[in-house]
Amino acid sequence: MNYKIPRGTQDILPDQSSKWQYIEQKAHDLCSRYNYKEIRTPIFEQTELFARGVGDTTDIVQKEMYTFEDRGGRSLTLRPEGTASTVRSYVENKMHGWADQPVKLYYIGPMFRYERPQSGRMRQFVQFGIEAMGSADPAIDAEVIGLAMDFYGELGLKNLKLVVNSLGDKESRDNHRNALVKHFQPRISEFCSDCQSRLEKNPLRILDCKKDRDHELMTTAPSILDYLNEESVQYFDTVQHYLQSMNIPFEVDGTLVRGLDYYNNTAFEIMIDGDGFGAITTLSGGGRYNGLVEEIGGPATPGIGFALSIERLLMALDAQNITLPVKKGLDAYLVVMGEEPKKYAPKLLHDLRAKGLSVDTDYLDKKMKGQLKAADRQQATFAIILGEEELSQKMVQVKELEIGNQETISLDSITTYIKSKIEE
Ligand code: HAM
Repeated sequence: MNYKIPRGTQDILPDQSSKWQYIEQKAHDLCSRYNYKEIRTPIFEQTELFARGVGDTTDIVQKEMYTFEDRGGRSLTLRPEGTASTVRSYVENKMHGWADQPVKLYYIGPMFRYERPQSGRMRQFVQFGIEAMGSADPAIDAEVIGLAMDFYGELGLKNLKLVVNSLGDKESRDNHRNALVKHFQPRISEFCSDCQSRLEKNPLRILDCKKDRDHELMTTAPSILDYLNEESVQYFDTVQHYLQSMNIPFEVDGTLVRGLDYYNNTAFEIMIDGDGFGAITTLSGGGRYNGLVEEIGGPATPGIGFALSIERLLMALDAQNITLPVKKGLDAYLVVMGEEPKKYAPKLLHDLRAKGLSVDTDYLDKKMKGQLKAADRQQATFAIILGEEELSQKMVQVKELEIGNQETISLDSITTYIKSKIEE
């Protein structure tokens, strides 16, 4: 039996995981600057949370969830996204009672969707997302978008396109909904069965249909922007004003609807332009969800957030030939020759590592040449050479591999010597 990795998943091997660590560290640092605190929620939740939260007419809930029954007969689902879980935790832990509102949280972790796998579309992918709950100030919308743009910008990505839309408040959405029903109803039989059932339940979802995307009624459908009431227009204007003041370029696109049901007012996506990126151009998405906390059983509380996947971010970095400044090799490789030095090596390694150096050695009894080759492969900055004679004098040879110069250093001062050289 040959075991294979499940479709739509990947192993992240060591040459890639250093990039992941760099990106994750960037997310931690950025969130700390913006004062978002990390939350870690379970990988699975009650199925009902997503059905309610994400919305039962969405593709995610209807077609893409990994749902299973546990041995106690409970229906559980691997989380397809992070917002519903974060809001569940906000309600369950009564965060609405915390003195500091909005509560600003972020998460980095795997999400699961049973989608047709293709480049940039995985069945398990890692989202970095943030959620701010407890304020309806449009300045928070601008902050969330600003953080997202900064994250990409600080990693060096270019040709980003920020697209914003407003889905309006409840009154605006109801009016738009009626207009959509009126628009599609006479010819709904020309649409797929999903769209036919969406007409009554959630006509906005029709605009998101992948099958009927080219139907002529799609392009002529009424735009939400024509149905925003005064308050929603005002809100959207203020968000745009803040973005302008922050020098963040954007486009307004009245057809941007997003694939999850909880949004109102601000919705946005960040896309990437340019060759070599294939069919998938959306890097991240988010928006405001003022009804979600209440929907999930908490007090009426506004919220906004966004999420991106690290997989798509890495694709974008590759497409733009951006190399991340990840630390490559070891500080030093310990080359050991002879019986006594071999016995002494574990203690020396242990000491050097305890003092903060990254060091490795040979465990296969290689000859000197083989050990030096290994030091090169490990991209070690220094080789520390310990032979019988050196050990008897409590000395080592320290060779700077790139330059080739070599010095004799006492065993006690290896760390100080290497650290000072590295600082130089
Ligand atoms: P979403 O648009 O479904 O929104 O996903 C956000 C991002 O996750 C996408 O833009 C994309 O980068 C990534 N993503 C989604 N599906 C896949 C996949 N199959 N493979 C690789 N990457 C994928 C949400 O999930 C919302 N929870 C975002 C949000 C947070 N809204 C408010 N707060």
